[in-house]
Amino acid sequence: MIKVISVVGARPQFIKAAAISRAVRSGYSDKIQDIILHTGQHYDDNMSKVFFDQLNLPVPRYNLGVGSAPHGVQTARMILRMEPAFLAEKPDVIILYGDTNSTLAGAITASKLDIPVAHVEAGLRSFNRSMPEEINRIVCDHVSTLLFCPSQTAVNNLKHEGFMQDSELSFCGNHPKIFFSGDVMYDNALFFSGIAKGSTDILNQYRLASGEYLLATIHRDNNTDQPERLNAIFSALYNLSEEFDKTVIIPLHPRTTRVLKKNLEAGLYRSVYNRPNIIITQPLSFFDMMVLERNAQIILTDSGGVQKEAFFYQRPCIILRPETEWIEIIEHQAGIIADADPQKIREAYLHYVEHPDIIFPPVYGNGKASEFICREIAAIFN
Ligand code: UD1
Repeated sequence: MIKVISVVGARPQFIKAAAISRAVRSGYSDKIQDIILHTGQHYDDNMSKVFFDQLNLPVPRYNLGVGSAPHGVQTARMILRMEPAFLAEKPDVIILYGDTNSTLAGAITASKLDIPVAHVEAGLRSFNRSMPEEINRIVCDHVSTLLFCPSQTAVNNLKHEGFMQDSELSFCGNHPKIFFSGDVMYDNALFFSGIAKGSTDILNQYRLASGEYLLATIHRDNNTDQPERLNAIFSALYNLSEEFDKTVIIPLHPRTTRVLKKNLEAGLYRSVYNRPNIIITQPLSFFDMMVLERNAQIILTDSGGVQKEAFFYQRPCIILRPETEWIEIIEHQAGIIADADPQKIREAYLHYVEHPDIIFPPVYGNGKASEFICREIAAIFN
């Protein structure tokens, strides 16, 4: 039996680990033992527990309970508490997901203990090193043994950094091996789509008409913690709700909720909260988000995961960042980078109103990325 520890900590990681865990249960339970370690980076029920419940993710054997703290302290606490768990379990491989501080802590701890790392969502680059996630990705990729890339772009990024694909040197000795596995989030999008529809009443709850509302999410620190950017984004959303009489629903991340009153100008804050067709909610469950994404007219977001889900559900996306790692979305005109610029956001909105027909080719795999990853892990560590 191959012993695997999946390290999770933040919302998008519960979603990705659920896909792997499902693939283990459905075809590899006699070969792979999958143990979940939760760092506790996200701890509110609506940021953590609801995802375990809905996605059927097994109860973590370890919960490190690190909670919120400055990045260095948070990451250090994770390493401190993770090391004894790895030493006790002696896993054959650690699976790390994405680019959060939990990923970074797992990468450092595993590599110090000489435990092989499999990185799911390897090779992504924004080429913006001021993003904490960019540093986390680079470090994780460079200590990983198996790099599972969700897109061909990600494979190419790794090759540019000197990784070799399918080389004779691959995974002999210390040479890492890179794969185009496809995106485990796409697996989830396909698997849960019918289940989600039957499990939520979110459209009725907020009186939303399919195809007629805008869905927005904002949580990146460079948007939430820079008042001028936060004001620009919220005034753009306010303008869309007023000028085009569009309903805008905004499920708010706790980071954003915490700073909104402080960082938004008082007048804009009041206008946003008093406007009847702007709906601000708590963070939503996976199924609620899935249904909101599928039925939105256009999605506006600074989240990497939501950008991709927009693509999976064939919705146009306005990206509230200066760049994206998911450049296929831009290449296929399914997304426009509008940054925190109200003028660009308005133009992008008008573009998609006038050009709603977009082609969404299957650039993120075939919906079987998690099976592929399990198959490779089973073959390599057997
Ligand atoms: C983290 C990831 C980010 C990912 C995001 C998904 C890093 C560096 N960033 O950002 O890549 O896109 O998760 O959500 O790891 N908070 C709560 N309750 C919670 C969790 C967070 O109130 O359950 C609040 C805390 O005040 C905390 C703040 O949100 O200080 C930020 O949380 P943190 O986990 O540090 O980063 P995220 O912004 O969630």
